[in-house]
Amino acid sequence: MKLIDGKEASNAIRDKIKEEVAGLIDAGKRAPHLAAILVGEDPASQTYVANKEKSCQKVGITSTLYRLPAETTQDELLGVIDFINQDDEIDGVIVQLPLPDHIDKDTVIQAIHPSKDVDGFHPENVGKMVSGLPTYLPATPFGILMLLEHYKIETSGKSCAVLGRSNIVGTPMSLLLSRKADPGNCTVTTVHSRSQNIEQITAEADIVVAAFGQPHYLKADMVKDGAVVIDVGIHRVPSDKTKSGFRLIGDVDFDEVSKKASWITPVPGGVGPMTITGLLMNTMKAYRKEVYS
Ligand code: GUN
Repeated sequence: MKLIDGKEASNAIRDKIKEEVAGLIDAGKRAPHLAAILVGEDPASQTYVANKEKSCQKVGITSTLYRLPAETTQDELLGVIDFINQDDEIDGVIVQLPLPDHIDKDTVIQAIHPSKDVDGFHPENVGKMVSGLPTYLPATPFGILMLLEHYKIETSGKSCAVLGRSNIVGTPMSLLLSRKADPGNCTVTTVHSRSQNIEQITAEADIVVAAFGQPHYLKADMVKDGAVVIDVGIHRVPSDKTKSGFRLIGDVDFDEVSKKASWITPVPGGVGPMTITGLLMNTMKAYRKEVYS
């Protein structure tokens, strides 16, 4: 078994971003700028947003966090987005999900100017992705593609089971892996809550991407010998072995599955760091006006 080290891959990519940003500053230009909006105090979202800010700072990307109370109305949130849309010195914006129940996520996503939608969630950018046009790819699937590329893992002609069909991970991942591209050219099966014979599908797959959101769902008897296993899950579980009293585990039972896999991502330190790297890459694309001139 070989470990797909997300920290190593993401450090290599982030070093290049850092170098590019330093070059811009040396040339007297402004730094790229990412804005994040956090509504409410969901603990997981606070951690994600803090990590994004820290990662921006490390590579020299300016980051601004708009922290709004949970009671913020949808109109107030749309007002903040409008303000950011009009600020020429902000390249990209993300609205951290989930949003409180009284706010309609789709209305909010569609209010972001597509040129600043570095999450790649706006229907215009989803449409471009489906059409194979240059766009911002959603950060997690983008990060996974970069991991496969970094470790030179062959995908062409392989069978791939993607567990999950969310707009953020499963659906774009299935699409991207089936595209005529490298990485890509897989025969993809999207597995979801209504799928039958799930174990049979995963056991026949050369590549399994687990984004089901269920701790330790994927067991050794569900994968074939030599499979490539990518774990998107991240769950906090109580532990008496750590100082914090909890540890992070994925959708894959790593101890079991790693004995059969040829390549596998750990949790933490696998897909997680690459998701933020995907976002940083998209922010650079926005700054360079690569997608929208
Ligand atoms: N919540 C969980 N994943 C994501 C993501 O990739 N982007 C945003 N904005 N919110 C999320």
